[in-house]
Amino acid sequence: MASYIRVKLKPKEEDRLLAGHPWVYSNEIDKFPKSLSPGALVEVVTSKGQPVGRGVASPSSKILVRLLTRGFEREVDDSLIFGRVKEALRIREGLKDKYRTDGLRLLFGEGDGLPGVIADAFGEGQAVLSCFSAGLKPFFPVVVKALQEGGYRHVYEKSVGEVCQKEGMAEFQGWLTEPGTLPMVFNEGKAKFRSAPDQGQKTGFYLDFREGRRRVSELGRGKALLDAFCYTGAASIQAVLDGAKEVLAMDSSQGALDEALENARLNGVEGKIHFEKGDSFHAFKGLKKGGRMFDGILLDPPPLAKSVHDLPAGRTALKRMLGHSLDMLNPGGFLVVATCSHHFPWGVLEGLTREAVEESGRSFRLVERLTQPQDHPINVSIPETEYLRVLVLSEVSY
Ligand SMILES: C[S@@+](CC[C@H](N)C(=O)[O-])C[C@H]1O[C@@H](n2cnc3c(N)ncnc32)[C@H](O)[C@@H]1O
Repeated sequence: MASYIRVKLKPKEEDRLLAGHPWVYSNEIDKFPKSLSPGALVEVVTSKGQPVGRGVASPSSKILVRLLTRGFEREVDDSLIFGRVKEALRIREGLKDKYRTDGLRLLFGEGDGLPGVIADAFGEGQAVLSCFSAGLKPFFPVVVKALQEGGYRHVYEKSVGEVCQKEGMAEFQGWLTEPGTLPMVFNEGKAKFRSAPDQGQKTGFYLDFREGRRRVSELGRGKALLDAFCYTGAASIQAVLDGAKEVLAMDSSQGALDEALENARLNGVEGKIHFEKGDSFHAFKGLKKGGRMFDGILLDPPPLAKSVHDLPAGRTALKRMLGHSLDMLNPGGFLVVATCSHHFPWGVLEGLTREAVEESGRSFRLVERLTQPQDHPINVSIPETEYLRVLVLSEVSY
C-alpha cells in the first residue's frame, strides 16, 4: 500500500469536494507540510477527520491537490491512471465514425478523471499530450503506455505556457516515443487538415469546434461568408468544400494564417478563400465602412473571459462585435457565435445576442445551441468542464 500525506480541510470546506469536484485550493486547507513535492500522494480529510478523497499535490499551484478518488478505498497508483486512460478511450469508441474524423480529443482532463491531462489524436496512431497539473506529471509514463496500448504509437508532448509557471513545472515540447511525423495530417468530414503542435496554438488544432464548423458548412452552401477568427482555416475550408461561394477569413496570427493557406492548398480551395491578417475586433469597422456584406458570419473568438474578472470587458467586446456583424449580414443571412470560456455563461451569451438582435430591428430564429462534442465530456459536478457555447441564428422575414 502506498503511503499518503494527510491534509486536513478547514471547517465547512468539504461540501463541493464531497459532491465530486476534484480541486482542493490551498486556502481551504488547515495546514499542509512545507516539504510537499509535485505528485506527492495526499489523503484529504474534513476538519472532523472524515475521509474526502485521495489525490496528488501541486505545491506551487493555488489548486494544491487534485483529487483522483472519492473516499479512501482506492489506491492512487499506476493502475488507477492506466484504467482512467483506458476508460477514456473506451467511451470514445464509435466517435470517429460519428463525427467523420480521425482527429479526436482522447483525454479531456477533469472530464475524464485525469485533472490537467489533455491528449488529442490526429490521424493514424499519433497523439499530442499536454500536462497542466504538476501533480499528474509523474504519471506521464503510464499515460503514454496506455495510449500506446490503445493504438497511439507516436506521442508528442506539448506542455508549455503560463500554466507551467503557475504549476512550478518545466516547459517541455518533444516526442515521448519513437518520433512520428509533424505536422500531423488528419481528416475531418471532406477535408484534410494539418495540425502542427510544435508551432500552432494548443495541441495544434481546435477539435472542440468541429460541430460548429459543420453547421457553418451546412448553412453556407452557395454563400459569401466571413470567418472572423479563422485560426488555420478549418471552418472556411470545410465550408468551401461543402459549396460556399467565397470566404473572407481573418486572424491576428500570421503563423495561423500561414498554416491556413497550407491547409487550403491541401484541399485545393485556396482560390475561394481570401486570408487576411488583422485584429477582427477593430477590422469590423473598416469592413463596414467599405460596404462589405456577407450571407453568413462566424465569430469564434479567443476566450473573452479567462476569469470572472474579465467578464465585463468580454461582454463589451462581444456586444460590439455582434452589432457590427448584424450590420454586415445580408437579409436572410446566418450568424454563428461561439464563446470558449467557462466564465462566459449561456445566460450572458444569449442575453448579449438578444440585445444585439433587438437593436438591429431584425428577427432571428435560434437554429441551434451547441456545446462541446462528446470527446470533450462534461462532468456535471465540475462546472469548469463545460466551456464551449455556440448559438446558431438565421434571419427570418417576419
Ligand atoms: C478559438 S480560435 C478559432 C478556431 C477556429 N474557429 C477553428 O475552427 O479552427 C480563436 C482564434 O482567434 C485568433 N485571434 C485572437 N485574437 C484575435 C483578434 N483580436 N483578431 C483576430 N483574430 C484573433 C487566434 O489567433 C485564434 O486563431
